[in-house]
Amino acid sequence: MGPGTLRDAYNRPIKDLRISVTDRCNFRCTYCMPLDEYVWIDRSEILSFEEIARLAHMFAGLGVEKIRITGGEPLVRKDLHRLVGLLSGVEGVGDLCLTTNASLLAEQIEDLAAAGLKRINVSIDTLVPEKFKQITKRGDLDRVLEGLFAAKALGLHPIKINAVIERGLNDDDIIPLVEFAREQGFSMRFIEYMDVGNANNWISEKIVSKKEILERINARYPLREVGRDSGTAPSVDYEFTDGLGDIGVIASVTEPFCSSCTRARLTADGKLVTCLFSNHGHDLKSLIRSGATDEQLVELISSVWSKRTDRYSDERLEAMNSPEGYQPKSRHKIEMITLGG
Ligand SMILES: C[S@@+](CC[C@H](N)C(=O)[O-])C[C@H]1O[C@@H](n2cnc3c(N)ncnc32)[C@H](O)[C@@H]1O
Ligand code: SF4
Repeated sequence: MGPGTLRDAYNRPIKDLRISVTDRCNFRCTYCMPLDEYVWIDRSEILSFEEIARLAHMFAGLGVEKIRITGGEPLVRKDLHRLVGLLSGVEGVGDLCLTTNASLLAEQIEDLAAAGLKRINVSIDTLVPEKFKQITKRGDLDRVLEGLFAAKALGLHPIKINAVIERGLNDDDIIPLVEFAREQGFSMRFIEYMDVGNANNWISEKIVSKKEILERINARYPLREVGRDSGTAPSVDYEFTDGLGDIGVIASVTEPFCSSCTRARLTADGKLVTCLFSNHGHDLKSLIRSGATDEQLVELISSVWSKRTDRYSDERLEAMNSPEGYQPKSRHKIEMITLGG
């Protein structure tokens, strides 16, 4: 981390930037995507690749070392490899990653890899085709696996598989996913089901906690804790004691990590968002399109980040443990597809 790294009101540095390149998606995962009442961002409002790259250089100058391209589904954005090419040249950014549902990956992975992409996370919540369809509404598991293995064949590494675990839906998929990942050389990342957005009808009873996920895996395949990557990553990582691979668990609900959160988000329409559970963003696009200089943009980003006081997941856990309990609908949040997961 450079000496000039920008810090927020709780002294948290800005180190990661998650860029949503589109709010659109070809899936409708039940835990993520509101089905009916969503108003899509108008295409004219979406940042161009050049606008995104310009901002990425500024964020890197302020301390960002890692960039993740996400969405919505990033691969529905035309010619995404062009953006990868622009971002892989950003000085100071050592890690460029893509999070995708992989349904369009098989046909794009060669261009993406040639443009400099080295790492991907693929979301797969079950290996049972009918259940995959039930969760994603529109997804075809075979296409996703085709994309996943095409990336493996091209040598992308590590390839992580993200699975959101929802009680009664896919908690019985934990062990099959672990076995698949161990056999094929992928890293599993289990994600506690979160109350993102406003439309996923989250209730705390559907969470399978990190503790329970680990107990289930450890009973079959013993684990040893490795810790958080760089001390601040959302995932707590574990390796199998038999040496066959690793897993991670992202426990935003039961073990929030707000105190070490270094992530900024850029929405597809150019808003800077400082927390996954924010109810608003700070408009960088209008400033860019009104002809602002780099200095003016850096000033706005710095001013937003230096005032940052978000600790939503800490507050949610405090509320869950209080006599009144936690009311998910008590606060309006930006949808996950808009701000980038
Ligand atoms: C919003 S998606 C965007 C990228 C891409 N479409 C994908 O599915 O990988 C990013 C990640 O957020 C996760 N996610 C979405 N809704 C969630 C929820 N309610 N709780 C936990 N994780 C969620 C997804 O499973 C996915 O791994
Ligand atoms: S999790 Fe990803 S693939 Fe599923 S609906 Fe959300 S954005 Fe689309």
